[in-house]
Amino acid sequence: MSRSLKRLLVAGAAGFIGSNFVRHLRSTRPDVEITVLDKLTYAGNLANLVEFEGRPGYRFVHGDICDVDLVDSLSAETDAIVNFAAETHVDRSLMDPFAFIETDIRGTAVLCEAARKHGHQVFLLVSTDEVYGEVREGRSTEDVAFRPRSPYSASKAGAEHIAWAYAESFGLPLLVTRGSNNYGPYQYPEKLIPVLITNAIDDMPLPLYNDGSAVRDYIFVEDHCRAIDQVLHEAPLGKVYNVGTGVETTGLGVAQAVLDIMGKPRSLIQFVADRPGHDYRYAVDISRITALGWEQRVTFAEGLERTVQWYVEHPEWWRPLKSGEYWEYYRRNYRPLVG
Ligand code: NAD
Ligand code: TYD
Repeated sequence: MSRSLKRLLVAGAAGFIGSNFVRHLRSTRPDVEITVLDKLTYAGNLANLVEFEGRPGYRFVHGDICDVDLVDSLSAETDAIVNFAAETHVDRSLMDPFAFIETDIRGTAVLCEAARKHGHQVFLLVSTDEVYGEVREGRSTEDVAFRPRSPYSASKAGAEHIAWAYAESFGLPLLVTRGSNNYGPYQYPEKLIPVLITNAIDDMPLPLYNDGSAVRDYIFVEDHCRAIDQVLHEAPLGKVYNVGTGVETTGLGVAQAVLDIMGKPRSLIQFVADRPGHDYRYAVDISRITALGWEQRVTFAEGLERTVQWYVEHPEWWRPLKSGEYWEYYRRNYRPLVG
């Protein structure tokens, strides 16, 4: 089965995964017309999309997914929505939860409403494995109940509940992906991997919460984008797909690998006070997306090498981001380990 979508509204594509998704789509499906809607928060960056500016079949609209009139008018001109737009960083959600509730939940509702009104073919919500909450043992299948434990993951769970309610109540043609932790080029240097790499470049301490033992499933962003593309075009409507690699890595393991690639001493690792409510493990069952024909192409070792190389070669991209408000956030977030 293959769905033909001609005019796509991609919300939040000035961020990390969305911009990689646009890059992927431009090369694999150049005939799809793409409208990007992005508020350009601290995490949104036009530099991520500069290569598409002025190209036929691409336009950028600066705006908020919570703006009902704007979303309505853009939805009238498109046939499907892929929603990446969200506040995304757990540590910031502990400082300012309301921004998350507003964008992630209300913004998603505004998009659902417009998609319904204009009879869209598909609404794809880019969700996260964090909606399952901490998974001490085993792996989350798509059917297990949500147990979010941070304002970020609770907001993403709220977004999903709204979208599923629209599917049930109004027949919204919904698809959902629940991706694991992404890494790769263009990731804002607040998430673990770009914090570690950019700090290592400057011989700054690499901060790990508590003892660095928390486990994540790190997926290279291009692999995630390929999965979203495949779900968007091939999956039966009303389905949700976990997207991950099945490989588990600790924070300490990531930090050591980064330092080894860069030839820097492990003494740069610094253990800092834990994140409140830290989810110590996420792990997804990926049989459903695998059955759709998707598989991981980039191993963690290869993806990390490529990512380190990209940050080493693109200081003009990340250095301007590590200034002003960034350091205020950084000082507020990282506290020395007590006890
Ligand atoms: P990001 O923080 O890099 O980018 C978010 C983008 O959304 C930014 O461009 C920002 O300007 C935009 N945005 C924020 N509020 C907006 C609003 N009200 N209106 C319009 N645009 C707005 O995030 P990311 O890491 O690229 O994540 C993208 C999506 O994927 C999110 O929905 C996130 O929950 C999900 N996800 C992320 C990961 C991950 O590891 N990063 C994993 C699984 C799922
Ligand atoms: P992060 O990249 O914030 O993603 P998640 O949304 O999964 O929490 O963090 C990934 C893991 O790394 C998580 O266990 C928290 C940990 N971490 C650190 O140890 N130090 C850091 O500076 C950051 C940002 C995260």
